[in-house]
Amino acid sequence: MANILGVGNTTLDIIHSVASYPKEDDEVRAISKARRSGGNCLNTLTVLKQLGHHCVFMGTLANDIDGVYLQQQIKTQEINVDYCPIIAGKTPTSYILSSEDTGARTIVHYRDLDLPELSFEDFNHINLSQFDWLHFEGRNLPEISKMISFTRKEFSTLPCSIEIEKPRENIESLFSQADVLFFSQHYINHLGYKHPKNFLNTLQEKIPHIDKICPWGEQGAYSMFSNGEFFHEPAYAPRQVVDTLGAGDTFNAGYIHACLNKYSFPKRLHFACQIAGKKCEQEGLHNLINIV
Ligand code: ADP
Ligand code: FRU
Repeated sequence: MANILGVGNTTLDIIHSVASYPKEDDEVRAISKARRSGGNCLNTLTVLKQLGHHCVFMGTLANDIDGVYLQQQIKTQEINVDYCPIIAGKTPTSYILSSEDTGARTIVHYRDLDLPELSFEDFNHINLSQFDWLHFEGRNLPEISKMISFTRKEFSTLPCSIEIEKPRENIESLFSQADVLFFSQHYINHLGYKHPKNFLNTLQEKIPHIDKICPWGEQGAYSMFSNGEFFHEPAYAPRQVVDTLGAGDTFNAGYIHACLNKYSFPKRLHFACQIAGKKCEQEGLHNLINIV
């Protein structure tokens, strides 16, 4: 078991399952409705907790009714939120349509701009010596940048992973500080690359010492490890794709778990694809460990 700190954002996910994705101006009836805690980093911790790790989440929580609900949900998952600043404001919300015929999820995210994100000062309250791994969402620059620089300076051997999901100003300034970088398909496509191999080759010249991982939906995942080896791991073949919401977050958790357990590089990718693919066979992220 490892002690893991995750720094990021949490949301209230309001998920409606529909038979198939509606057309614009349609009126359709949902099959079911669920309210769950969400957000990439929190989802990753939800899976890491099930894999046997002790998890602490740091991110701001709003003091509204949805924020109270989120705190209850997160505590039920036995993830520590004691270090999260609770701030007057509104909880970020994601309205999600999950299509039963394909398992695809469509997310409309709303964030009240008045809710500040975690500051370096908030982060600086926690003693990092208790952790074996730090995972960051690549957002909220330059605060995140200060947190990672501080960690690198004071705890140089503490492994750090960063998820690069969306193109954001100066996000590439974070790259050289990580041990593991997870890049989304969206980010890579935005840079103009259709396939991750060219992107990985270019990055290898700039940051050879970092493991670079690209989860790629139903194609599985591509990666280039710090030794320059390129790997492709095919996706697990789900019996039926029921729900892909949080598949990427589950993949990241699987990969971090595999690193902590010192699996070989190809086995890390294999494990991450297995757990992420199996997640797609079920709704939500709970009881995942029973199926790994
Ligand atoms: P995100 O959920 O962030 O959009 P991806 O779509 O890239 O992330 O998926 C992350 C991982 O989940 C993939 O690397 C793959 O292992 C698994 N996965 C996603 N969709 C499928 C699918 N349809 N079938 C099998 N595995 C999948
Ligand atoms: C899934 C997810 C949801 C959240 C959204 C935020 O990956 O983390 O739980 O609403 O993405 O972008």
